[in-house]
Amino acid sequence: MIEKIKKPISVAIDGPAAAGKSTIAKKAAKILNFTYIDTGAMYRAFTYYVLKRGVNPQDENACNALIPEVDVELLPDGIVKVNNEDVTRAIREIEISQNVSYIASYKNIRLALVEQQRNMAKHRSVIMDGRDIGTYVLPDADVKIYQVASVHTRAIRRYEENLEKGIVCTLDEIEKDLIRRDYIDSHRDFAPLVQAPDAVLLDTSKMSIEEVVIRVLQIIKEKTGVFPHE
Ligand code: DC
Repeated sequence: MIEKIKKPISVAIDGPAAAGKSTIAKKAAKILNFTYIDTGAMYRAFTYYVLKRGVNPQDENACNALIPEVDVELLPDGIVKVNNEDVTRAIREIEISQNVSYIASYKNIRLALVEQQRNMAKHRSVIMDGRDIGTYVLPDADVKIYQVASVHTRAIRRYEENLEKGIVCTLDEIEKDLIRRDYIDSHRDFAPLVQAPDAVLLDTSKMSIEEVVIRVLQIIKEKTGVFPHE
């Protein structure tokens, strides 16, 4: 019997920093048995390497020069590696968050990481979260969601997450950093943060995690017919 080859499904979730994209994407991917791809982790991993090498993150040419020596890996269990070093925890530190927007604004670094992201989505169904997934990385994604929440809600969520992880910071520090990063991410020349015209806008300010997951699964079902347990 000839088995029908199913075309992999791609779901793009974009939106500003700390809008809860990764929490939702991870849960929905687990339920649907899709691969979750955290593209922000890749820019963070690159930033980790830049800082480790003592390179100025605001020096685009010096950062670009590191491209050939940086190997970023996303492993299935959520482990992130740079040149085989496990940086899963280190890339969540505040120093990385403060510098990653510079690195993510450099076109050559983006092109290198985007190529890897596209390859990851070629042969398997994915939920990929980031800033430019629906607009640039996977413009033909089957499902596009633009997930937002008020800056205050996002700051509180990130603050609580950090507390749980033992990362020391103030709410005010986080709120200022989110505003600054959103500004850089949405004003860069190449592949900025912007809602794709065909993306579904999802404001999660007043929704629980469970409600958002249910809504995302509904949207995926509406667009692709794929539903858990089918
Ligand atoms: O989602 P995050 O906070 O981990 O992302 C880290 C940074 O990387 C953030 O400043 C935006 C940038 N980023 C990007 O420019 N494009 C992506 N696809 C994902 C993240």
